[in-house]
Amino acid sequence: MITSEIRKKYLDFFQKNLHDIQASAPIVNKDDPTLMFVNAGMNQFKDIFLGNQPAKHPRVANSQKCLRVSGKHNDLEEVGVDTYHHTLFEMLGNWSFGDYFKEQAVSLAWKFITEELGISKDQLYVTYFEGDQADGIAEDLETKDLWKQFLPEERILRGNKKDNFWEMGDVGPCGPCTEIHVDIRNADEKEKVSGRDLVNQDHPQVIEIWNLVFIQYNRFANGSLKALPQQHVDTGMGLERLAMVMQGKQSTYDTDIFAALIQHLESKSGKKYTGADSKEDIAFRVIADHIRAVAFAIGDGQLPSNTGAGYVIRRILRRAIRYGYSFLGFTDSFMFGLVPSLVHLMGDYFSEIKAQEKFIVKVVREEEASFFRTLASGLNILDGYTQNAKQGELPGEKAFELYDTFGFPFDLTRLILSERGWTTSEKDFNACMEQQKSRSKQAAKQDVDDWVFITEDVAETTFVGYDQLSAEVKVARYRKVTDKKGTFYHVVLDTTPFYPEGGGQVGDVGYLEFDNKKYSVLNTKKENLLVLHILKELPSSFEGTAVVNAQKRNSTKRNHTATHLLHHVLRDKLGTHVEQRGSLVSPDYLRFDFSHFEKVDDNTLREVEDSVNQWVLNNIELEEFRSIPIAQAQEMGAMALFGEKYGEQVRAIKFGASVELCGGTHVNSTGEIGFCKIVSESSVAAGVRRIEMLTGEAAFNWANDKALTLAKVEELLGSKKDVVADLDKLLQQKNALQKELEEIQQKELLSLTKELKTKAVTLENGLNFISYHGQLPANAVKDLAYGLKDQEDTAVVIASNVDGKALLQVALSKSLVTKGLNAKALIKETSSLIRGGGGGQDFLASAGGKNPDGLPEAIERVRQIVGSH
Ligand code: SER
Repeated sequence: MITSEIRKKYLDFFQKNLHDIQASAPIVNKDDPTLMFVNAGMNQFKDIFLGNQPAKHPRVANSQKCLRVSGKHNDLEEVGVDTYHHTLFEMLGNWSFGDYFKEQAVSLAWKFITEELGISKDQLYVTYFEGDQADGIAEDLETKDLWKQFLPEERILRGNKKDNFWEMGDVGPCGPCTEIHVDIRNADEKEKVSGRDLVNQDHPQVIEIWNLVFIQYNRFANGSLKALPQQHVDTGMGLERLAMVMQGKQSTYDTDIFAALIQHLESKSGKKYTGADSKEDIAFRVIADHIRAVAFAIGDGQLPSNTGAGYVIRRILRRAIRYGYSFLGFTDSFMFGLVPSLVHLMGDYFSEIKAQEKFIVKVVREEEASFFRTLASGLNILDGYTQNAKQGELPGEKAFELYDTFGFPFDLTRLILSERGWTTSEKDFNACMEQQKSRSKQAAKQDVDDWVFITEDVAETTFVGYDQLSAEVKVARYRKVTDKKGTFYHVVLDTTPFYPEGGGQVGDVGYLEFDNKKYSVLNTKKENLLVLHILKELPSSFEGTAVVNAQKRNSTKRNHTATHLLHHVLRDKLGTHVEQRGSLVSPDYLRFDFSHFEKVDDNTLREVEDSVNQWVLNNIELEEFRSIPIAQAQEMGAMALFGEKYGEQVRAIKFGASVELCGGTHVNSTGEIGFCKIVSESSVAAGVRRIEMLTGEAAFNWANDKALTLAKVEELLGSKKDVVADLDKLLQQKNALQKELEEIQQKELLSLTKELKTKAVTLENGLNFISYHGQLPANAVKDLAYGLKDQEDTAVVIASNVDGKALLQVALSKSLVTKGLNAKALIKETSSLIRGGGGGQDFLASAGGKNPDGLPEAIERVRQIVGSH
């Protein structure tokens, strides 16, 4: 049974059992700052579990894309090294929100596994929670008893808190769980060691496939647990592992999807995957795994970058490239070639990767190319370290520098060094790594206290900011947060006019006025259904008025509407391949990133700007659809963005033909924008361009500043008609004069050279000496000395004081160098006299200094040394 059939069987079974089948949420998390990527199917239901949000359907099932590469659940370093861990995996899950509980969860799972899939119960073990004294939770005998109807007692095992109490993160919904494990070893091995002893022992063939969590508690930052208002079920089954069992394989990497990707890699690398533990085999697994994570992340709108989630994706891709480079012999981009196979294997169910195949290929390819360039620079540096000696030890700090700057893992550096007979210290490398880790830990450290509730009944902040900029409000709860910037308070109000950062638009600023005192709101953010007002000072009373800074909000909304117009016009002028890839809407300017494969030339950019301004002049009115079915919005022409999660009801913003799904704030009609000015166009990543634009006052100011500068230039030039022609003329004149000047200087230098040659003196020892002290620029000083040194047995000293600084140049004819005189040494000897320093070559050296008064003495000193040689 291939993977897609297993997925379908699961969803069909739970649909038959009255579950609502839902799509996977995007893997990049937008509304929950505590979690970068979706790491479990239940993430998107957190608020339902906590009782903050009612469940639309009491039973739900889906196949969720999960990425476990950061935070509490991080498997990255294990992936590829063993044969069953993955970065991106699909989690089949069924949920009950206050509906069925332990009994039905267990029986549904059993039925699916044994009846629908036909897995023999002789292969199965289950675990249940042994309880925990500190948390005050008793042994889960109820679950144990439930299993007894299906399995003999020796296959039902007690498990500890680590394995049998599931927590989403340090805080949040949690509860005891029961796991189903399968033993796929052959009969011989089973005979030798009972599977019972291998459960939860990291054995590659005795593995957990399904986790049924009974969500009952909320974990607080202070470590305490509080019972939730209702009891829920959250199950998660790894589809890749299930496929391994169903396909009779010993490793997930031998199942249909991975086998196809590995085969592709075999044909490209000319190497063979044997499934063992060699470095080559690990490389095959790492690459086949990582291309899925990277392609799906890009498909959900996350481009590789230098910070946050983008950086995690970049690191995953680089890890794969390093393995490909080190062990499979790839020296140029290769991973992008796997994308079409991946789309073929998974694109029917996950249409987002099919729809964006070309884009994903382009991004991966460019990212790889740039990393290969980085690798090459790193190798050059290593060459530099090792070229002068046949063997040696590279300091661990240097190996760390290579890791930090060029992404060279220690193993790679050590491998390259050993090929050249060199070593390096792992201990020192690790010490540097530890130091860096603790520095960044310190920098990222954030202590979040538990909420202090003023009223318990606000699970969702009511947002009134589309219609008003101030409101009478009450504080519902607050918490203290401390990070490296200091201590702040997150204040949640029952109602708010403050727009929380989201959809590219920055959070509102303003103030709360409580008890005649104003408290600044520094920023506004969202945490799921709550709006957090960020304050430096905690109000001493909890009721009053919340007031948004109207000037900032108005500038922001101009930029937001202009972003929609820009998007529309770009699609119109460049083509419908243009899709939004990111946006920033702030009071000062707007930034819009979009897919497009080449630079937008100046003429086109001008056309785009003119067209946006035409929309402004036409003063088109806003039509806001605050809550309509998503299908209706799409019929009107709204486009859903990949990686965004939309509910069944959405908000649509329409200005004429521009329709977008959007939660942001907008002008009432486009004329309010005033005027738009594109100020830059650049590249952000492969296939992604960025336009920055100003609107309203910022655009006026920009235009006025430019006009003012131009007026000044005109005034300076005395230009009346055509300032460009006048300036061009002036520059031509300047160049001609410059040339003339240089010719005159050359002539002067020649005649000076001639004159000085006649003034050469012969010293007591028969050597010749020429000196000159005047005011010449540095290049003339050098040319002059150079031109004189070819006289027989001659030493030349040219001294110059220019703008209060001293310059000293010494030149020696070859014969003098052969006789043991040295220009560098002479400079060294004399530069202190002019309070300076310098250097050069044996026959030509110079010094600059602060004391021109010392020049005559310096000349004399050189004369003496040469004369007494
Ligand atoms: N939340 C549990 C897990 O991720 C079950 O879905 O394992």
